[in-house]
Amino acid sequence: MRRLLPVTDMTAAETEGGTAAGPDAAGPGAGGRGSAGPAAAAASAAASGPGYSASGREWSLDELADAYAYPALPAGEGAWLRANMVSSLDGAGQHDGRSQPLSSDADMRIFGTLRGLADVVVVGAETVRLEGYRPARAREAFAARRAAAGQGPAPVIAVVSASLNLDFSLPLFTEPLVPTLILTGAAAPPDRVRAARAAGAAVLTTGDGAGVEPARAKAALAERGLRRQLTEGGPRLLGQFVAAEVLDELCLTVSPTMTAGSAQRIAGGPSVAVPTRFAVASVLEQDGFLFTRYRRI
Ligand SMILES: NC(=O)c1ccc[n+]([C@@H]2O[C@H](COP(=O)([O-])OP(=O)(O)OC[C@H]3O[C@@H](n4cnc5c(N)ncnc54)[C@H](OP(=O)(O)O)[C@@H]3O)[C@@H](O)[C@H]2O)c1
Repeated sequence: MRRLLPVTDMTAAETEGGTAAGPDAAGPGAGGRGSAGPAAAAASAAASGPGYSASGREWSLDELADAYAYPALPAGEGAWLRANMVSSLDGAGQHDGRSQPLSSDADMRIFGTLRGLADVVVVGAETVRLEGYRPARAREAFAARRAAAGQGPAPVIAVVSASLNLDFSLPLFTEPLVPTLILTGAAAPPDRVRAARAAGAAVLTTGDGAGVEPARAKAALAERGLRRQLTEGGPRLLGQFVAAEVLDELCLTVSPTMTAGSAQRIAGGPSVAVPTRFAVASVLEQDGFLFTRYRRI
């Protein structure tokens, strides 16, 4: 994994395949570049910070978790909603109905890391149905970090659905470490709501009609203490978060593939009146995949 952005004095060496010192030698407090002046030392300290590595080395989950840490939120208020999506070079958000053909091992490590950092994973019902969602796992690699942050062992999965046309006999609903949430509108079919609750899911009404109102969903999750929010799409759900201007960050994997065809883009639905601007926060690279992170301006 290489860090391409933010650019540091180590970026060129990494990009050219140079032999930059590894994190053990260059970690905070190691003082490994002692002969450099103060400015270079400061830059070096930044380069040796969380997630830095020599070219090509696989980053540990801990390093990835440092690189993708949520911003500090004001005590007791607010929420940060980030999305994690993958896109082909020609803009496809899926291939044959799945995102897996666009993914890679490194992408899956980042996918897992983002889950490991989140309080809640918000996902559209169609993605749950097509991708066969299972409960989030408690992973040893994130256990200490989660405990220190006051988080449970695994993120809550929150499924967004108007119809509640979901198979409540699946492990996602019957075997989660923490009960799965269903976000729906006030007009949800009562029998489906009963079936969801009977299966052990908690149903949260976050819309006055059939559907969920994105801003209300974000706020309702925050009120339950689920403030570090991650959405994994799909495109129809993400498009609504974008249109409602509640998406704070996009972690977009640019997959070095092209699919042609008519696959969905990563965000769908009605377009916004004026394109929403994002600023690049970081870019990592491995095996030709770019792992970008953008924040809404
Ligand atoms: N590229 C990526 O990173 C990525 C990520 C995720 C998914 N995908 C792909 O995207 C495809 C599925 O995505 P999709 O866009 O078709 O569907 P989606 O966004 O996952 O789910 C759409 C469904 O979510 C529910 N929903 C959405 N907005 C709602 C609202 N405001 N209120 C209540 N319910 C709401 C509805 O469920 P009900 O029908 O139950 O009412 C709707 O049918 C799959 O092929 C998947 O592989 C790609």
